[in-house]
Amino acid sequence: MPSGKRGRFPAGTTVLDAARELGVYVESVCGGRATCGRCQIEVQEGHFAKHKISSFADHISAFGAKEERYARVRDLKEGRRLSCSATIQGDLVIDVPQDVQINAQLVRKSPIDRVIERNPAVQLCYVEVDEPDMHKPLGDLDRLKVMLERDWGWQDLLVSQHLLPQVQSILRNGNWGVTAAIHRDLQSSRPTIIALWPGLKNEAYGIACDIGSTTIAMHLVSLLSGRIAATAGTQNPQIRFGEDLMSRVSYVMMNPDGREAMTKAVRSAVNGLIDEVCKEAEVEPDTLLDAVFVGNPIMHHLFLGIDPTELGQAPFALAVSGAVHTWGSELGLAVNKGARIYLLPCIAGHVGADAAGATLSEGPHRQDRMMLLVDVGTNAEIVLGNRQRLLAASSPTGPAFEGAEISSGQRAAPGAIERVRIDADTLEPKFRVIGVDKWSDEPGFFEEAETVGITGICGSAIIEVVAEMYLSGIITEDGVVDGALAARSPRILTAGRTASYLLHDGKQRITVTQNDVRAIQLAKSALYAGIKLLMEKQGVDTVDTICFAGAFGSFIDPKYAMVLGLIPDCDLAEVKAVGNAAGTGALMALLNRDYRREIEETVQHIEKIETALEPHFQQLFVDAMALPNKVDPFPKLSAQVKLPERKATATQDGDSAAPRRRSREERAARRNRD
Ligand code: FES
Repeated sequence: MPSGKRGRFPAGTTVLDAARELGVYVESVCGGRATCGRCQIEVQEGHFAKHKISSFADHISAFGAKEERYARVRDLKEGRRLSCSATIQGDLVIDVPQDVQINAQLVRKSPIDRVIERNPAVQLCYVEVDEPDMHKPLGDLDRLKVMLERDWGWQDLLVSQHLLPQVQSILRNGNWGVTAAIHRDLQSSRPTIIALWPGLKNEAYGIACDIGSTTIAMHLVSLLSGRIAATAGTQNPQIRFGEDLMSRVSYVMMNPDGREAMTKAVRSAVNGLIDEVCKEAEVEPDTLLDAVFVGNPIMHHLFLGIDPTELGQAPFALAVSGAVHTWGSELGLAVNKGARIYLLPCIAGHVGADAAGATLSEGPHRQDRMMLLVDVGTNAEIVLGNRQRLLAASSPTGPAFEGAEISSGQRAAPGAIERVRIDADTLEPKFRVIGVDKWSDEPGFFEEAETVGITGICGSAIIEVVAEMYLSGIITEDGVVDGALAARSPRILTAGRTASYLLHDGKQRITVTQNDVRAIQLAKSALYAGIKLLMEKQGVDTVDTICFAGAFGSFIDPKYAMVLGLIPDCDLAEVKAVGNAAGTGALMALLNRDYRREIEETVQHIEKIETALEPHFQQLFVDAMALPNKVDPFPKLSAQVKLPERKATATQDGDSAAPRRRSREERAARRNRD
């Protein structure tokens, strides 16, 4: 357990051998010498009707001398056994714990609440090599290979070139006992010795890294226990070359050394993070042996040193779409010289290895329910489907959801308004500010807010305030701020033909203008139209579950996202934020190479839809400008939230504005498509 694999073995077989024969991954570094402690298992006792097995402690051999010694010296936890020593004496149900922890100081609370079964591409193997013998003139390295084959079954081993000059001294320093790190990712590829240490080396690490256009996030993970030892993030320094992806592509096109500069910037940020996580976990960068990266296609290309210009224009051709296997030394990363790097495959020219990572993490391809997976950034990546069929597209949402293009927009930082409610009768707002515990209508709020200030509106609150303005009748379903309400409330400010809503009047005046509402409408229409296009291709009117990936998804309230019509109608309980799913996918691929094969296979079957080439996209975009939508009903949402009656627009321009507005929206849709 937990794999559920079972088999019959002669009494006296070690549990480790039985596990290997069944294809169950149990870690072992010392090769059964009972010194590394990595092979721990637990016996489950009792009658297991489901398995038709009665499993008891006396069905496993008693502690032998070696196991006894390990338990005494290393403190083997109660109930744990070393599977390399313990032998099968009767029917057994065996648990393979996924958290065998040797270096207790590295225990951190995992930011990822799932157990990932391990089967990493790198394995540590301790061997004792014969000393040189004049009569058998086999070289040091050759004798090492003989032992790795005899003790571990590795045949046909390759050796990383950088180790050749070191083999002699490492063997002698270890008094002929050495630990080799063997890398084998694809079953068909030859295994390679990528690192070598004198004596028993009982820890190896890997990194899982998500290179986002705004932030880069990294986990440092023990390859032997699966524990996350440290996590860190930093801003992507490429921002200085351009805020969004297209401006970075333009930078490459306009500047002869632009590509090099951006590649250098992202690699040095990655190295900075490696340094940070290693220091935090007190780990030598030399023990980093494997790394998995995900990123959108442009980040992916720039990290690999590939010119992304082709991704800036149709047909958005990727230089490489399949998974990439390379070396840390090739990318100038501060890891072990033999460390390997793996990049998940890209799905399409606009849908990258990050979306592949999120797909691997959330697993729409492993279920029958219709799952919508959305990662909202300046470009939303959308995956829709189930076990039968998966579709993917990207939609140009622009930076409005991140607070850019919004008059009072700002980053989610202390002082930013993060939650908003508007009283439908009085049109008075109440809000919460990051860094202050109270709502603005609670006593003491303004005194507390003095310290951080009230400085702007962050992405989550922009969604809420526009949705609340709609629910309280301040804006119509067409997104027009109703200037006539100025007679009812001083919160409605009019200027010429447009009106705005005064959210806070303090040192900084925070208003939501007609242009702000328009920017949000354009962004949400682009997202919804992309989703709707995929739903039409799938032939479905509804989805069963919605996963919001990325930082944005973690902070927005699904109810308000649906009121605005960012996402289609769905049971609100089925809408969830899944955090950095792309990073989780990278972690899964780091800890278990079977996941690499799974996503490589899945990506091949994902149908890519290019929104820019779909003539119908424009109509879907125009329909999606309305709140929540001009044509699509939201029955599940309406059952939980009272939506305003649909009515004609209350524009001050009168009805004659409608055709003009429509053509403005169509122009915007065209612009987005282009
Ligand atoms: Fe090392 Fe069992 S394999 S202690």
